[in-house]
Amino acid sequence: MSANELFEQIAEEIYQQGYSVLSHALPEPLCQALAVEVRALPKDRFSRAGIGRQDAHIKAETIRRDEICWIDNSTEPGREWLAWTGELQQAINRRLFLGLFSFESHYAHYQAGDFYKVHRDAFRGQQNRVLTVVAYLNPDWRIEDGGELLVYPDEGNEPLLQVLPEFGTLVVFLSEEFPHEVLPAQADRYSIAGWYRINSGNSHRVDPDS
Ligand code: OGA
Ligand code: MN
Repeated sequence: MSANELFEQIAEEIYQQGYSVLSHALPEPLCQALAVEVRALPKDRFSRAGIGRQDAHIKAETIRRDEICWIDNSTEPGREWLAWTGELQQAINRRLFLGLFSFESHYAHYQAGDFYKVHRDAFRGQQNRVLTVVAYLNPDWRIEDGGELLVYPDEGNEPLLQVLPEFGTLVVFLSEEFPHEVLPAQADRYSIAGWYRINSGNSHRVDPDS
């Protein structure tokens, strides 16, 4: 499948059902470069993830245990990843008119025992995160390693999706629509989580004045 066909398929599935899960979606050389980079990062580049509110550190640790490192243009794998997610952004905007405007993403490392309890990546009406992208960087992941991503319908307790964090698998979904969680991993689990935002212009004034 060409990159364009892949992006078309993701856009079509987002349009039809609000999510898309594809294995072997990330180009192999890109996935390989990211998988190598995340394992080579010095430990002090990672920090305990927060939960986006003023809650105490202790509270956050009951909700999520992973450590994260934001991705930028300062390394070749980072540049390639941002170029690729930029093309995906364009393809989705062409097909769905979502008006995706900016993108931010981080590596996440879950050690054995780490999890991320049920949460949403955005809340209705806040117009912050519109579309979530998750990519997995784990060659030879086994079922007994756990760490599945469970994605739930807007309302309801039966998961719509149960995804193993296998090398090259890509998950894309509307950030406001789908609660989701990461079950405890039993081995080192590496992923990238990223979010497209629209230009809401409330934090930095980026909308043209009119
Ligand atoms: C997140 C998230 C899922 C995963 O970081 O918000 O839901 O599978 N990550 O790593
Ligand atoms: Mn999430």
